[in-house]
Amino acid sequence: MTGTPEEKSLKGLFIRTYGCQMNVYDSERIRDVLRPLGYAPVEAPEAADLVVVNTCHIREKATEKVYSELGQLKRMKEASGGRMTIAVAGCVAQAEGEELIRRQPAVDLVLGPQAYHKLPEMIARASRAIGDRLETEFDTIEKFDALPKTREADGPTAFVSVQEGCDKFCTFCVVPYTRGAEISRRVDDIVFETRSLASQGVREITLLGQNVNAFHGPAPVIEGGDDWTLGQLCRHLSKIGGIERIRYTTSHPRDMDDDLISAHGDTPALMPFLHLPVQSGSDRILKAMNRGHTADHYRDIIARVRQARPDIAIASDFIIGFPGESDADFEATMQLVRDIGYAIAYSFKYSSRPGTPAAEMHGHLSEVVKDERLQALQGLLREQQTEFNASQIGKSLPVLVTGKGRNPGQMHGRSPYLQAVHFEGPESLNGKIVDVKVVGASLNSLTGELMRVREAVL
Ligand code: SAH
Ligand code: SF4
Ligand code: F3S
Repeated sequence: MTGTPEEKSLKGLFIRTYGCQMNVYDSERIRDVLRPLGYAPVEAPEAADLVVVNTCHIREKATEKVYSELGQLKRMKEASGGRMTIAVAGCVAQAEGEELIRRQPAVDLVLGPQAYHKLPEMIARASRAIGDRLETEFDTIEKFDALPKTREADGPTAFVSVQEGCDKFCTFCVVPYTRGAEISRRVDDIVFETRSLASQGVREITLLGQNVNAFHGPAPVIEGGDDWTLGQLCRHLSKIGGIERIRYTTSHPRDMDDDLISAHGDTPALMPFLHLPVQSGSDRILKAMNRGHTADHYRDIIARVRQARPDIAIASDFIIGFPGESDADFEATMQLVRDIGYAIAYSFKYSSRPGTPAAEMHGHLSEVVKDERLQALQGLLREQQTEFNASQIGKSLPVLVTGKGRNPGQMHGRSPYLQAVHFEGPESLNGKIVDVKVVGASLNSLTGELMRVREAVL
């Protein structure tokens, strides 16, 4: 989809995306909203008439990156003789608002995550130098309703947003402030979008939400009745022709209900991979984080999920060095990791975020202590990840082929457990599910031999 705009009337669009999958999805929707206005993606910001920086506010480093990127864009804008329009979208836009324009006057537009459908109107206003350059109202229902209903697929996998926002207010986290209150999309709209993706060759969808398993979207109109849960939604979407794999992310332990757990056992399309962040293994710290569950409650959920789907791979997120974290608290996290055994996990040093309750707490730790603990945890997680990948050697796995590999004749794809798999095979396999016998494993990927091509079940 990228390249130089072919017709004169086309305008160049460059979108830089930071942060989570929700931002990746939103950037695609921004592209969709702008297509009817004649904007076509270009490969470098220098060639763009409009640059959108879709930002992340989750940790201090993420926010800092935005300002340095904006500094570079300012120079490009000057070199373009002012032709370039710079828009800042996403969570930093929501959190900083007008401050962004004050700190970097080259910024033309600032729009929060709930305002993307207003972008065409904002661009029109900016070109006439009239009106507001800022849209940071929360209006999620309007956003879900106003974005184009059809989408252009980009390969055999796609994100589908089903829920947005968060009411959990973990004490370290900016998301409830940047994304607003929890809201779920209508099942009918999700089905429509998924069907349109399936008809374009999408085989695997990942349902997205900041708290995706808190999903409670209005039931299909023809069925009526109560709002649906995520378990119901997954079962329903698995019946759409062409959709062979369903994933969801990111979920919260408190919303891991019995129905969703049993869906893992009775819905083959639901992939055996669960990203369930726990953040800490210490009950004291979990309480201070306002997570609303204990470490044992989490262990119990994982045990029940494993009972429903014995081969399920578990992933998580951890925060190291939350204010007041003692050696014993950290050891409790290490113990939880040993008990669960993760396929993959993401760990971060606690970053104090302005306006969050944890920023005001006592007992902030030094970077040295945080670094030491993070290294110890990451060492253990790397061991587990390597071990998990190695445990696939000798097995035959169904792999969804997602593209060409680095070397000629090589293809790559995804295992059910979300591992990258490399194997020798023709390009014609792209988008198909094939059986690959795993012959090698490393920390980040598997290598295998092509055994058989499965017919897509349509
Ligand atoms: N909704 C998801 C998480 C979204 S943020 C959930 O509840 O799990 C993604 C991850 O960033 C979090 O799981 C957490 O591990 C990390 N994170 C969030 N705020 C952070 C902060 N202030 N410092 C360090 N890591 C943070
Ligand atoms: Fe942030 Fe907690 Fe909400 Fe996740 S559940 S987005 S960590 S406040
Ligand atoms: Fe970042 Fe916002 Fe996602 S803060 S992690 S882009 S919800």
